[in-house]
Amino acid sequence: MGIHDYEVGLHKSELDTPALLLDLSVMECNIRTMASYFAGAPAVLRPHVKLHRATPFLAHKQMQAGAIGLTCAKLSEAESLAASGITDILIANEIVGARKVERLVSLASYTDVMVAADNPANVAELSAAAQAGGATLRVLVEVNIGHNRCGVGPGEPAVALSKMVFDAPGLKYMGLMGYDGHCTFGVSEAEREALSKQANSLLVDTRRLVETAGLPVEIVSAGGTFTYRYAAAIPGITEIQAGTYLLMDTAFKEQGLDEFGCALTVLSTVVSRPSWRGAENLAVIDVGSKGMSTLYGLPEISDPQGARAIRFSQEHGRVDVEHAARELRIGERVELWVRDANGTINLFDKFYAMRDDVVEAVLDIPALGNRT
Ligand SMILES: Cc1ncc(COP(=O)(O)O)c(C=O)c1O
Repeated sequence: MGIHDYEVGLHKSELDTPALLLDLSVMECNIRTMASYFAGAPAVLRPHVKLHRATPFLAHKQMQAGAIGLTCAKLSEAESLAASGITDILIANEIVGARKVERLVSLASYTDVMVAADNPANVAELSAAAQAGGATLRVLVEVNIGHNRCGVGPGEPAVALSKMVFDAPGLKYMGLMGYDGHCTFGVSEAEREALSKQANSLLVDTRRLVETAGLPVEIVSAGGTFTYRYAAAIPGITEIQAGTYLLMDTAFKEQGLDEFGCALTVLSTVVSRPSWRGAENLAVIDVGSKGMSTLYGLPEISDPQGARAIRFSQEHGRVDVEHAARELRIGERVELWVRDANGTINLFDKFYAMRDDVVEAVLDIPALGNRT
């Protein structure tokens, strides 16, 4: 019996706090929405699992809904996926350094892992390690399409690196990837489509040049939750790497994305109703910035309505209860919407998977060691 099994069947009100709750119905609805979009799309979906750090239950749900494989940011996430039986994995990131490359080659010996590369030194390192390990490593050349993070320049620089990968023993050239991360926050919905199309056109223009140079391009991977529709509609893009759509958060939601619902909340307990002068409308809860990422601002409160988070310390949250729909005495619960899903999940070691306010499953989030 797992250590959390006794919690299955508990009502939300019986859980200890802080607790990260995942509404299964909302998550399932998000999966269906994305699956039905991709059922009619020219590209396929390879969801990015950095959101949930490769939690097996969620990764397998995504596969079951028609994903072609999964995308991740870390080698350790790829190892977690492989340990849970998923073998078609794209690490949409550069893997650098002898120790990591050795782990990557070991992973390639029993999975179909693919990795991104954006410079010749790394290509040489990958090739040497793959040969030494007797494995074949699949490689996508990462192209900078305007996000200005990793990625070789579009056009000729990407063609040159593609040729190098193609010719490198131990490597199998698979194609290109690019991430339009500059078309997310800070860009209005009105501008987003044009900007994303412009960025992803650089990728397919590069694909044409690579093919003209005589190299086969099997995969062109792109897009995220904000831009999956725009990227998938461009002929020549074969896969989409969206991730946050699965669970969402209020910061994403506020930017549009009406088709997906927010599945995550954090449950907290009122630990103090201070009596100092001026504290009449103040409740202090046991969730602060160590239990909820505030990268995109303070969270909205889902229950009770009207209550408002006003300030977070590390282990305390200050809540203004003046307009709260119910009285908040010490020991009562406050439920907060998650505003930054990626950052908040990273602070927890388990999700309580809820249906109708009852725990249906406790999902362990792969170890905090998933950082390397
Ligand atoms: C390379 C890459 N691809 C895809 C994604 C997924 O984006 P989203 O979480 O918006 O779906 C990210 C997110 O940061 C990313 O870095």
